Amino acid sequence: MHDFDYLTDRDIYFDAACQSLRPRPVIEALNRYYTEHNSCGERVKYAWGRKTDNLVEETRERMLKYLKLKSRDYFVSFTLNTTYGINLLLNQFKPGQFKKVVTSNIEHNSPFLATIAFARREKVPREVIVRRKDGSINLEKCDFSKALVVMNCASNIDGRKMLNIKEVVKAVHQAGGIIIIDAAQALAHSPEILYKTEADAICTSAHKMYGPSLGVMIVRRDLQKRLVTNFVGGGMVDDVTKEDFALSADGNPDHAYTRFESGLQAWGEIVAFGEALKWLESLSKSDKKQFVENYTRLFEFLNNHSRIHLINQEANPTMSFYIEGLDSHLVGEALSDEGIMARTGYFCVHYYLDHVKHYPPLIRFSLGYHVRKSDIDKTIKTLERMLG
Ligand SMILES: Cc1ncc(COP(=O)(O)O)c(C=O)c1O
Repeated sequence: MHDFDYLTDRDIYFDAACQSLRPRPVIEALNRYYTEHNSCGERVKYAWGRKTDNLVEETRERMLKYLKLKSRDYFVSFTLNTTYGINLLLNQFKPGQFKKVVTSNIEHNSPFLATIAFARREKVPREVIVRRKDGSINLEKCDFSKALVVMNCASNIDGRKMLNIKEVVKAVHQAGGIIIIDAAQALAHSPEILYKTEADAICTSAHKMYGPSLGVMIVRRDLQKRLVTNFVGGGMVDDVTKEDFALSADGNPDHAYTRFESGLQAWGEIVAFGEALKWLESLSKSDKKQFVENYTRLFEFLNNHSRIHLINQEANPTMSFYIEGLDSHLVGEALSDEGIMARTGYFCVHYYLDHVKHYPPLIRFSLGYHVRKSDIDKTIKTLERMLG
C-alpha cells in the first residue's frame, strides 16, 4: 500500500498488535502540527491554538462516530495508553460500591494486574472467568451482581473475540454491575464488535489503530457519578480557591472529557489520531480483501504444518505458535536475519500462556494493512527452509 512506501522490500513487520505502522497521512498530520500549528489546546486564543482545538474536537467526534455512539451518551478522553486508562478508572471508583471484581483467563497483564490491585485495595474477591475457546462467555456460569467487570473484547494472543459482548454487557447491567472493555485489539480491524455498545467504558490505544502513541477512553456519561476524581491538575478546573477546586467536568457536560485529562495533552498525537480514523474509514474493499487473504494464507500454512503448534482456532490477523523442538526466541532472531520482525515470548499474557496452558515461549505474527503479498510468500518460504 503506497501509504507505507517507506518500507523497503526487506522489511516485513509482523508486530502490528503491539504498534501498527503509521501510514503517511498520520505521520504528515503529526508533522503539520509541529510545523504549522504547534500550540497548547483549550487554553489559548491565538490562531494556531484555535486550529488545534478544532482538530482535537473533530477527533473526539470521529472516535464516537467510528463506534456509532452518540455524544449524548458517551464522551472521549485521551490518556497515555490502554493500561493507563484502565488504571485511571479503577483507581477512581468511589470505594465500597462493588461486591467483587471480575476478569477473564485470557487477559493482557493490563486488566489482569489492574484487577488484582483493585481487589487488594477494595478488599473484595476477584474472579477469573474462563472464556470459551472462541472467546465468548458462558453467561450461565456467571454471577455479575454488583460486580466490576474488566475484560478484553479481542485477545492479543490469537484475536479471539467476545462474540456475545452485547449479551454480556446486558447481563452485567441487569445484575447492577459495571463493565469496562479493553478494546486494544479490536478497534483497528474489528470495530463492529463494539458498534452501539452499552459498555460503561472502553479503553484502547491509538498506536494499535494506525495512530500515534496515545491512549483513548470512551466513557459513558452516567459512569461519572460512580467516580471520585482524584488525579487532578491543570486543564480540568474552572476555579481554584485556597483549599478547593471546581472541576470543569462537573460544571459543564460538554467538558466531561477533562475529568481524565490532567495537565498538558499530546495535542499533536490527538490530531494525528483523527487522521488515522479518517484513514481507516477510507480503506477500500480491495485493501481489506488483500488483508484478509494475507492473514488467511499465513494461518493456513501455520495450521497445516506438522511441526507447528498454532494456538489460533481460526484465521485472524494475530496468530501465535511454537515450533516443536525449536526455541521461539532463537526462531525470532533467525526470522529477523531475514527481515521478518515478529514477537516472541508471552506477550504480557503470562497467566494464561505460562501458568494455565504451560506453553513454551511463543512466536506471534500480527499483521496490518501494510503487509504485502510478497511478505507472506517470503515468510512461508523462510519457515519451510528453516523447518526442513
Ligand atoms: C488486549 C490488550 N490489552 C491491553 C494492552 C496494553 O496496551 P498499552 O500497552 O497500549 O497500554 C495490550 C497491548 O498489547 C493488549 O493487546
